[in-house]
Amino acid sequence: MSFNTIEANRRDGRFADREQLWLFGYGSLIYKAGFDYIERRPATITGWQRRFWQGSHDHRGTPDAPGRVVTLVEAPGEVCTGMAYRITPAVFGHLDHREKNGYLRFATEMTFADGSHDEGLVYIATPENEAYLGDAPAEEIARQIAESHGPSGPNRDYLLGLAAGLRELGAEDPHVFDLETRLRAIENA
Ligand code: SIN
Repeated sequence: MSFNTIEANRRDGRFADREQLWLFGYGSLIYKAGFDYIERRPATITGWQRRFWQGSHDHRGTPDAPGRVVTLVEAPGEVCTGMAYRITPAVFGHLDHREKNGYLRFATEMTFADGSHDEGLVYIATPENEAYLGDAPAEEIARQIAESHGPSGPNRDYLLGLAAGLRELGAEDPHVFDLETRLRAIENA
């Protein structure tokens, strides 16, 4: 599959007939909205883990020197905390463009802090996309993040912004917090 997913997402048309819908953000969408939304609420999804396994050619790296950004990996029983935004389909153009480097729209059930549930849209980069990098030793991932830059800025800012956003949400995420510790050690060395 080509790593430009704009057309695939447009064709998919999921949620396009709704007047309003929920978007579940688990990466940069937690700490940097950059689009209009009606309201936002912390939420969780079950059965997925956040991982820095997606290559970034267009935001936090380049095609020759990709950075690393998060995607979701199936993990039965695991709970992933993020931010849910109530949006209108008018925002799809912005989102599809922003997430065009391998992310496809999926539907997921979300749980809010009060225990209520609703269906939400989530952008996930699966291993079939060409920009997918997959797992690597944590120290290697941290080093790649420390060294990568792209049109949206240094890759380190993405990791640190996400870690701060997760901390604000009171979320547990050993993968992200371990990478943050390693990044700081690399930068202080
Ligand atoms: C998301 O935040 O939900 C998707 C991944 C990203 O844009 O960082």
